[in-house]
Amino acid sequence: MSAQRHMHDHSAHVHSNHGSFVHEPPEAARELYREARESALPDSGREVVSVELEAREVDWSIAPGTVVRAWTFNGQVPGPVIEGRVGDVLEVRLTNRLPEPTAVHWHGMRLPAPMDGTEMVQQLVQPGESFTYRFKLLDAGTFWYHPHVNETVQLERGLYGALIVRGDDEPVLDREQVLVLDDLKLDRNGQVAKFGGFVERHDGREGDVRLVNGKREPAFSIAAGQIERWRVVNAASARYVRLSIGGAAFRILGTDGGLIEAPVTVDEVLLAPGDRVDIAVGPFAAGQELAIDALRYSRTTIKRRGDERFATLRVGSAKASTAVVPERLRVIEPLAPSSATPNRTVDFGIKYSLRRGIDFVVNGERHKTDEPVRIGELQVWDVVNSTLMDHPFHLHGYFFQVLSVDGELPAWRSWEDVVNLPPKSTTRIAWMPDGRPGSWMYHCHILEHHAAGMMGHFEVVR
Ligand code: C2O
Ligand code: CU
Repeated sequence: MSAQRHMHDHSAHVHSNHGSFVHEPPEAARELYREARESALPDSGREVVSVELEAREVDWSIAPGTVVRAWTFNGQVPGPVIEGRVGDVLEVRLTNRLPEPTAVHWHGMRLPAPMDGTEMVQQLVQPGESFTYRFKLLDAGTFWYHPHVNETVQLERGLYGALIVRGDDEPVLDREQVLVLDDLKLDRNGQVAKFGGFVERHDGREGDVRLVNGKREPAFSIAAGQIERWRVVNAASARYVRLSIGGAAFRILGTDGGLIEAPVTVDEVLLAPGDRVDIAVGPFAAGQELAIDALRYSRTTIKRRGDERFATLRVGSAKASTAVVPERLRVIEPLAPSSATPNRTVDFGIKYSLRRGIDFVVNGERHKTDEPVRIGELQVWDVVNSTLMDHPFHLHGYFFQVLSVDGELPAWRSWEDVVNLPPKSTTRIAWMPDGRPGSWMYHCHILEHHAAGMMGHFEVVR
């Protein structure tokens, strides 16, 4: 890459969404990057998984006869499912064939700061250039990747994909499927609609075309009598998915940061933007047909929606099952008691602005520069939502545990990198800066809110 060329060219880092906010990688960024790249070595017996990702524009078919001009990784929406095992090293060479700069963020990964894919830690990858990410896979779970530049446009146009990391002690079900959910706002010509406008800035952009794995309301199949593991990713810009599978019971096995302690039986689960969930689905009887829906969810937006269909599940003829859903999945030690004293308050709010109408802020500021965090010092944060809308809080690079929501204990313990903040609430989280110094951030994962400034960045220091 030509980091040198852009070193003093500030215009390269300014894009429409951040307006005048210029985030810069530190002077030493290239050295830190080289160090991180060279020190990523697989565990013994494990391997380097090499992937080429080319970001490029193509005509993508979302349904028979319906073609949308999309931005893709490797010509497909979503991008390829990237798979590795704990202890492997993932090496991804990103080549940018888009008409604008990009960078890829590895959402949920505990990786070194120089590999985080934001404009805080790297020079953007200019059209025609390549950049290589290389880092070790530390945790089993369902993750995803997406650009962290002009996100509102780049994700909406189709740049996102799933990243799966497998551990040694995974439950063995009959089959696995990955479902990446998205919605798309098209114009009268069936092309990606213009960006912007008050509703979109306020609510976040939602579209009426619902996609699973890049296809409009597709059908899935499952054999009668079998139990499958579904890894579900919500890649939508702003839509909350209250996932239902025909009202049938299913079992939650894992969330953002991998398996939870024991399966939890539910008949719906809420995925805020950026969220993932692993579920055990089935068994069903032959001939059943189930609606995979997003149930009505009110998040105080201007535009309201009812139940909406994402896909259909058809149950085929019976097959023998060897699936075992264990009663215990793993042990998660609590990081802190729910009574732990918070050492920081992060307040997601709105402010009225003459110029922009409405500002989305953290502790009263857009793009807040927050206090540094010291490695080894337990963080207990009160994450406050002082608005009347929901906001999904996302922390880069570290998993947290939810200690309480308005003083109530969560229903189960888990590792998360996204948690929904209900209106007028306080969510207490705990996380440990376990190393990996550098520039990190947290933000609302409604992409329009993030772009409007509902984010904070901070240093992790020794
Ligand atoms: Cu998936 Cu900074 O985000
Ligand atoms: Cu938000």
